[in-house]
Amino acid sequence: MPASFPPAFLWGTATAAYQIEGAVREGGRTPSIWDTFSHTPGKVEGGDTGDTAVDHFHRRAQDVAMMADLGVNAYRFSVSWPRVQPTGRGPAVQRGLDFYRQLVDDLLEHDIRPVLTLYHWDLPQELESAGGWPARDTAYRFADYARIVADALGDRVDMWTTLNEPWCSAFLGYGSGVHAPGRTDPVAALRAAHHLNLAHGLGAQALRSALPARAQLSISLNPSVVRARSQSPSDLDARRRIDALANRVFDGPLLKGAYPRDLFEDTAHLTDWSFVHGEDLAVIKHPLDSLGLNYYAPAVVSDATDNRPDGRSERKDGHGASDHSPWPGADAVAFHQPPGERTEMGWSVDPSGLYDLLRHYAREAPGLPLMITENGAAYDDKPNADGSVHDPDRVRYLHGHLSAVQRAMADGADVRGYFLWSLMDNFEWAYGYGKRFGAVYVDYETQVRTPKSSAHWYGELARTGVLPPPPEA
Ligand code: FCB
Repeated sequence: MPASFPPAFLWGTATAAYQIEGAVREGGRTPSIWDTFSHTPGKVEGGDTGDTAVDHFHRRAQDVAMMADLGVNAYRFSVSWPRVQPTGRGPAVQRGLDFYRQLVDDLLEHDIRPVLTLYHWDLPQELESAGGWPARDTAYRFADYARIVADALGDRVDMWTTLNEPWCSAFLGYGSGVHAPGRTDPVAALRAAHHLNLAHGLGAQALRSALPARAQLSISLNPSVVRARSQSPSDLDARRRIDALANRVFDGPLLKGAYPRDLFEDTAHLTDWSFVHGEDLAVIKHPLDSLGLNYYAPAVVSDATDNRPDGRSERKDGHGASDHSPWPGADAVAFHQPPGERTEMGWSVDPSGLYDLLRHYAREAPGLPLMITENGAAYDDKPNADGSVHDPDRVRYLHGHLSAVQRAMADGADVRGYFLWSLMDNFEWAYGYGKRFGAVYVDYETQVRTPKSSAHWYGELARTGVLPPPPEA
């Protein structure tokens, strides 16, 4: 096992525009689906919205200086589509692009590598009103938007990610409805998945044609590490069904240029998939320079054909309560909480899942560098009387997962970087501000930022590249 990570390893933190920026009505920005959704009563815990979030739009320079103080060498952020192209069509708004130009310049000045994500879930509301991701046209709109951002920032950003977690956009947004836009239609969810894949391919083509040759293209997936509760044929089949809907629906077309046959069979009663046009698959299989993987916890499933999970209390897949399943054609699968430690999200702490994930993609996509674009944990952090914030659980979580990364690398996985979710506490989607994932604590009343002990721990690791011994339990 290597004593230290390679010198070129990227040590970053990650955020997303709607979760941190605020300033939702400034500079010509129009509502995204998340503005509409968060302002719809009952959709987000506590009625929280991203209106102010952590005010990063106004605190950009200070936040970048804070990252530099911590010692990280990379930053993964997303561009807000409605901030740079408010209606999702037509010309760009320069004021919106200027914000990201300044952000990138600040990062470069501090030797922090910008890693730009084009789409982290904030579709311009106008495009949703015109049909959203279930409509094919949205994929073409995304390619135009990709081109706009590439033309504006291609001279200074060389790591580009098309989409963040298309699974969540498609299946939580249009299937279970716990994410924006909150639709609950299984066929719309499947159509959305395909059009997100197509958007990735068209977007990658647009980026390639607009960017300098050195630019690197990627996508961030959140594959499920799915484990069967038993080795019975029916539980193994439940695992297969969820694997198709969580993983192979994306990595099949992306890496192999084909959708899995069993997915078509499992969903044949819902759709004939005629929304997939013959030429789409070659577009989607556009060459990538790395694959981004987001990992939090594994899933344990069993067959529930004779005992259908029905509604809120039964469906414990960790993606929020809904009467509608995010798994079209696999409603009769039960999700189980493995025993053991959990985070504040109720997600189990299991670094072996990250090891398995990295080894899996090292086999599935030989020669393709891997990047962990999100990993982290929510805990109920509270400041001490002296204002300091001590988060030993998060340090242990990070240590365990980074040890797993190191093991996977020793066993052959080509991992190039790790991005801690998240730089600072922020708007955690349907959970609002109640769940804190930050390495930096944010007081939401005053917007004062306080690095937690995990931030200091992580910064030291980023500076030295040496994983220290495990912290005391
Ligand atoms: C991921 C999202 C990210 C954050 C983490 C906790 O699914 O990409 O924005 O909310 O979960």
